[in-house]
Amino acid sequence: MSVTTRIEEVRNEVTELAQAAPTAKDLMEGVCKLLHERMLKYNWVGFYMLEPGAKPPMLVLNAFVGAMTPHTRIPLNQGICGAAASSGKTIVVDDVSKDPRYLACSLETKSEIVVPIFVAGQVAGELDIDSHFSAAFGAEDQQLVQYCAEMVGKRLEKSR
Ligand code: SME
Repeated sequence: MSVTTRIEEVRNEVTELAQAAPTAKDLMEGVCKLLHERMLKYNWVGFYMLEPGAKPPMLVLNAFVGAMTPHTRIPLNQGICGAAASSGKTIVVDDVSKDPRYLACSLETKSEIVVPIFVAGQVAGELDIDSHFSAAFGAEDQQLVQYCAEMVGKRLEKSR
């Protein structure tokens, strides 16, 4: 199966999940499981959400699939996670060893993508994916991960 076909299939499965999941948390858990199982280079998949009312702002580990990470709480001035949440922009790092912002989760990680989640126009959290392969996240992967983040944002917006 080509990467494009697989990505299309997984995108459709995410749409189905978003329709069927009873809560935003169920959707987040479902997205982690689906991406981890179906996208073979997505070796750690997890959500970090901004802690409500925290000063200074803090990203807190939420649903994830993969090995436990030492980074369960990340301030916005740390890591690729902090950079994505504070800029509101997707960050793709093809070689984490060359990015001074990188906070190591696993020694095996070679590349990473972090996509912010918006709720009512504000960053509410992010979807973070690590790969054991360098440059694992191409343009199509970026679109898929952004679609997942968008679905979760919409779902969170509904439950406000
Ligand atoms: N690598 C991230 C930290 C989270 S772990 O990858 C799960 C970062 O640099 O912010």
